[in-house]
Amino acid sequence: MEEIVSLCKRRGFIFQSSEIYGGLAGAWDYGPLGVELKNNIKRAWWKTVVQEREDMVGMDASILMHPRVWVASGHVDTFADPMVDCRSCQGRFRADDLDGDTCPNCGATGQFTEARMFNLLFKTFAGPVEDEASMVYLRPETAQGMFVNFANVLGSTRKKLPFGMAQIGKSFRNEVTPRHFIFRTREFEQMEIEFFVRPQEAERWHQYWMEERLSWYVKLGIRREKLRLHAHAKEDLAHYAAACSDVEYEFPMGWLELEGVANRTDFDLRQHSEASGVNLTYFDEETGEHITPYIIEPSAGVDRPLLAFIVDAYREEEVRGEKRVVLRLHPALAPVKATVLPLSRNEKLVPKAREVWAMLRPHFMTLYDDAQSIGRRYRRQDEIGTPYCVTVDFDTLEDEAVTIRERDSMEQARVPVSGLVEALRERLPPC
Ligand code: GAP
Repeated sequence: MEEIVSLCKRRGFIFQSSEIYGGLAGAWDYGPLGVELKNNIKRAWWKTVVQEREDMVGMDASILMHPRVWVASGHVDTFADPMVDCRSCQGRFRADDLDGDTCPNCGATGQFTEARMFNLLFKTFAGPVEDEASMVYLRPETAQGMFVNFANVLGSTRKKLPFGMAQIGKSFRNEVTPRHFIFRTREFEQMEIEFFVRPQEAERWHQYWMEERLSWYVKLGIRREKLRLHAHAKEDLAHYAAACSDVEYEFPMGWLELEGVANRTDFDLRQHSEASGVNLTYFDEETGEHITPYIIEPSAGVDRPLLAFIVDAYREEEVRGEKRVVLRLHPALAPVKATVLPLSRNEKLVPKAREVWAMLRPHFMTLYDDAQSIGRRYRRQDEIGTPYCVTVDFDTLEDEAVTIRERDSMEQARVPVSGLVEALRERLPPC
């Protein structure tokens, strides 16, 4: 992990939030490459779960919602983690993160206080008056924005069961112990699906979504043996779930959750129906009955999968006696698709290379690099996962052709400049 955290900072993937002021715990900033990778992950998810499906629609709800939403959802009462303090060093921990009664901070034994529950909701005020009546929460999950819009989406799209909604957005949790880099933070992004089904079909759809979600990670290049499904024991389930399995990845710090796939039953629609007085049932034309659909919820973060994609792609290899670090990212996720490299800073090569770069920019996310030796520049691109380098050499000035070098195999192919966009398009998956 240390290598990866250092690479992320050095190459502009991820920086500590407010670093020049000493940083803010549980908050991270995505740099020029990080934002590209993040956008590509979100785009790939949206394409798979919305664009390519006939039974899904997207939406984008606001982060601030009526505070009664969080009472009805159960978050105000039950969204809490057990917290303990160490009497010796005053460190604060999540009780369920601890292994035994030895403090991981100072090593003292038997010094923990009794566990007490700590609510994770962030609070703020809407408007100029800071009183109870103007208090609102920053959402801890995007899901509720979809539940409260159930009737709006149903009415405007005329969807029939089974169908789902998808949403990507920021969520906030006042985590007791943010940790493992971007794995557990206080501000993060989620990609959530709420899939509405007939109650008697819930188990089948739950099974379906577990497989579907697992295979999404494999399709995007994560090694199958590094992924597993982990079913929650009944006593570990969230207050709204009848069953839940996590998609887990084997990080250097152990098997950890990337996303949860839960059967939320009819809990949410019933709660909001009762609390708001608005009918949130579905008229089933097949049976002539009004039913409250069950919800199957594949709920992924963006940041945790991003970390898993980087960790899984990271390789240290030996090439001709030299170490090369390469991020074998799936080309659809790679932040930069192609980098243009003039063989040297020769005054004739540079304008030609910049012309080639300008030609590529409208089509792909690209970079240009003419600093240091060509070998060094290839290594720099390998390290950030760029699938293709395009080299402009002295022959280019004569034959109007360039060399495409592939990241993983390091194989090279000569293509005419006039066909370069097409040649890269053929090699890259549609984004
Ligand atoms: N709507 C259900 C829900 O929010 P969750 O298991 O609490 O379920 C879903 O969260 C996903 O959101 C997690 O699998 C994880 O990827 C991401 N997530 C949750 N808390 C997070 C945190 N503090 N930091 C980063 N990601 C988090």
